[in-house]
Amino acid sequence: MELLVRYRTLFSVSLLLLLRAGISLEQDVGALSLSPLPFIVLHGIGDACRNEGLARFTQVLMVMTGADGYCIEIGDGMSDSFFMRLDKQADIVCEQVKSIKALQNGYNMVGLSQGNVIGRAVIEYCEDAPPVNNFVSLGGPHAGIAAVPLCRALILCRLLDAIIIRLGVYSSYVQNNFAPTGFVKIPTDMEGYYRGCLFLPKLNNELPESRNETYKQRLSSINYLALIKFEADAVLYPADTAWFGFFGANDFRKVLPAVETDLYKEDWIGLKTLDEAGRVAFLSVPGGHLAITEAEMQEMVVPYLLPNFQPSHLPGYYY
Ligand SMILES: *[C@@H]1O[C@H](CO)[C@@H](O)[C@H](O)[C@H]1NC(C)=O
Repeated sequence: MELLVRYRTLFSVSLLLLLRAGISLEQDVGALSLSPLPFIVLHGIGDACRNEGLARFTQVLMVMTGADGYCIEIGDGMSDSFFMRLDKQADIVCEQVKSIKALQNGYNMVGLSQGNVIGRAVIEYCEDAPPVNNFVSLGGPHAGIAAVPLCRALILCRLLDAIIIRLGVYSSYVQNNFAPTGFVKIPTDMEGYYRGCLFLPKLNNELPESRNETYKQRLSSINYLALIKFEADAVLYPADTAWFGFFGANDFRKVLPAVETDLYKEDWIGLKTLDEAGRVAFLSVPGGHLAITEAEMQEMVVPYLLPNFQPSHLPGYYY
């Protein structure tokens, strides 16, 4: 059973490669009658706003939409994205979105990989926050990942792997010190997950005794949720987690689509509410983790960042 996922090849690399491949910044953004809401970008593990790939990604989206974009940094970016607990990372983003004046009338959110669960935590937990309009999620581990993310090449990584394996992914030390273990959900150890995992069970309202209706209300109050899955994703296991799909308990063979999960059926976080109102798009691109082309961005990301987005702008993607 191959349970190991590498995250050493991070999305920033693929973004950089794609965006370097000669994007024209001379896009015609058209005569927009309304000015678009600003958007924020939340990056994933090992990336930083100052990195070229991410700076370029934000810049390209700004040019394509005419909107102001803010890459929100958490601490020093790179290492905090690995080592700071995800709820703490979300607290920092929460403070930032409240302090940036331009966001106070509402904003759109663009998440990359781990940044998506941080973004969702901001939507669900952040008190007195400005409203999130649309949330475009690229390769988000929304339903968890069924493997401990190990990286086998770098010395530092090998050291971390050894610690995680030795202490156990749901040990308090590991949960408090290695951010991505906050969304590791091993289908054959659901008891360990419910008991020890400090981030995702709460975010997804999975624990009956601490389920909080406020999280559901807040998430279902956004306008549109676009979930982009990377069909050849080798970082997220399973790739369908980007669509809230996941393995059933004790089963590593079959990935349940979102609609067959309890999270959806019992509407723990409002996903069903949003979906039944036609406000969720399940989109996919053929590439590997976060490998999105300019054309795909134009088609699947940009519409959500323009004023007055209507799903009819994307015929065929809704079911
Ligand atoms: C649910 O979450 C809200 C917002 O964080 C909080 O104010 C409230 O006390 C929570 N309710 C329960 C029952 O824990």
